[in-house]
Amino acid sequence: MKLSYYGHSCFSVEVNGKHLLFDPFISANELAKDIDIQQIPADYILVSHAHTDHILDCVAIALRTGAKVISSWEIHEWLQAKGVHNTHPMNTGGKWTFDDFTVKCTVAQHSSSFADGSYGGNPMGFIVYAENQSFYYSGDTALTLDMQLIPRWADLSFAVLPIGDNFTMGIRDAIAAAQFVKVTHVIGVHFDTFGFVKIDHHDATEAFAKESLKLTLPAIGQVVDI
Ligand code: NI
Ligand code: MN
Repeated sequence: MKLSYYGHSCFSVEVNGKHLLFDPFISANELAKDIDIQQIPADYILVSHAHTDHILDCVAIALRTGAKVISSWEIHEWLQAKGVHNTHPMNTGGKWTFDDFTVKCTVAQHSSSFADGSYGGNPMGFIVYAENQSFYYSGDTALTLDMQLIPRWADLSFAVLPIGDNFTMGIRDAIAAAQFVKVTHVIGVHFDTFGFVKIDHHDATEAFAKESLKLTLPAIGQVVDI
């Protein structure tokens, strides 16, 4: 499975030759200025919550590519009002099978409002069940005991977890999350983008290694083979 990292919490995974793009926030990310949103392929866009640092480029990419956007009911309605018609609303706990994969929406302990303060529905994470490998993207969240349910639902190959602290889990809690969901490989996201989430890469990687876990902190533009 190939994972391309576009900075902050934006990444895409190829499943059955289709590109699943998560939480597109690129054009206002100083660190991602070499990434051109016009060039990013997408067949599906999964949006975890309505905060700007997860949804900013969603409309532009959805309109250009025609990708189906999977998100909360409230984000779906917001997108429809903006002329994005290929959407699929879901909510926490729900599961749906699309042509190329299945998604289950998980609890995220966070908040979810649009830039104007309006309600964005529940923040969520996603379990993606693909043909050969399943993975979990937690979205922005605190460490939560709900994560202990995830091994009941999926035998995961890897997890994508926020690691930058302040707004989400930090390093220690991301390690505990990896243990709850029973993965040994974590792709860290939501780090370094702005001052509040800067991390020491070496310390983070070492802390994971001490627990026999592999942490990948991809460079922006990097493609990780998993
Ligand atoms: Ni957020
Ligand atoms: Mn965020």
